[in-house]
Amino acid sequence: MTFPQSSRLQFTPDLNICRLLNGMWQVSGGHGRINANSAIEMMFKYHDAGFTTWDLADHYGPAEDLIGEFRRQLMKTRGEAALSSIQAFTKWVPRPGKMTREIVEKNIQTSLRRMDVPSLDLLQFHWWDYSDSNYLDALKFMADLQAEGKIKHLALTNFDTEHLEIITAAGIKIVSNQVQFSLVDRRPEVAMVQFCQQHNIKLFTYGTLCGGFLSEKYLGKPEPNRFGLETVSQKKYKQMIDAWGGWQLFQELLHCLKQIADKHQVSIANVAVRAILENPCVGGVIVGARLGIAEHIQDNQRVFDFELDGEDWQKINAISIQSRDLFAIIGDCGDEYR
Ligand SMILES: NC(=O)c1ccc[n+]([C@@H]2O[C@H](COP(=O)([O-])OP(=O)(O)OC[C@H]3O[C@@H](n4cnc5c(N)ncnc54)[C@H](OP(=O)(O)O)[C@@H]3O)[C@@H](O)[C@H]2O)c1
Repeated sequence: MTFPQSSRLQFTPDLNICRLLNGMWQVSGGHGRINANSAIEMMFKYHDAGFTTWDLADHYGPAEDLIGEFRRQLMKTRGEAALSSIQAFTKWVPRPGKMTREIVEKNIQTSLRRMDVPSLDLLQFHWWDYSDSNYLDALKFMADLQAEGKIKHLALTNFDTEHLEIITAAGIKIVSNQVQFSLVDRRPEVAMVQFCQQHNIKLFTYGTLCGGFLSEKYLGKPEPNRFGLETVSQKKYKQMIDAWGGWQLFQELLHCLKQIADKHQVSIANVAVRAILENPCVGGVIVGARLGIAEHIQDNQRVFDFELDGEDWQKINAISIQSRDLFAIIGDCGDEYR
């Protein structure tokens, strides 16, 4: 199956990406045991299917090392030119505190070495505590390293609209912010989307499948108790479902998505991803991949085969309005981490 042109985004002049990114948090532990060889084998499968863009972080267990090894094997088997077909977006998640050029450079150097790249495609920066304004220093040092060619583009993850605005106003060029965005968690629609559209910043979204809950597997199923949750991802999003409206309303959402899915001859997961992907501000949806344990390559390829229409959105919105206001309960994007 070859992907249509719409599966790709010219994200920056030098980065052409697949709009469905492979998420690597799932290799970090708490999602099943990962075998490095099977994981790399699976990375080739994703890549060859057209899923060429990876989302990872310095703290996702072996994720950066897997990218490094994948690149080496790709070069060995297919030649150096093949390396330009991978895009790997990592994150830096430091502990708050004083930021010096040395601290920032040391961490970037580690990611460069582990991923075996001369320059990071995208460095997504996370900060735990807004009351500590050292995040601005960290970003300025990152901008210096970008000017020296060690980072291609600067990005953020889990920043709220207010702080994204502060950073932008400080003259730091941010190309994307990674946030939770799904048919359960629609908080980005309140303020983030509008700001990003005005400033040409893309959103990369996670939690779009609620750790797999937004799929046929949970349709018509009784509410799982905490022992029935297989992964840390499911634990995270079960809490979100509870805060949003609970299991009964979630079942109504699943039934509604199933109707829409049947109409388009796709899966519930396809509809859930498509709904977020169609937001003009969204550059890509990140779907977690338990490399070597489970895969949904063929199913996820169908995301690019259809579009939601007005009638579909009416049905979805009729469920959404019955949910609690997560923006009022939790706050803006990323506030769940603070
Ligand atoms: N910046 C941040 O703070 C942050 C936070 C969380 C995640 N992330 C990023 O986002 C990525 C996504 O992770 P997530 O935890 O949010 O999980 P997710 O993408 O919402 O869910 C991933 C799970 O969905 C299931 N799935 C995938 N495709 C499917 C399909 N077509 N049909 C049915 N089920 C399907 C798989 O479950 P099975 O494996 O059980 O089959 C997979 O493990 C992470 O890897 C990471 O890169 C970032």
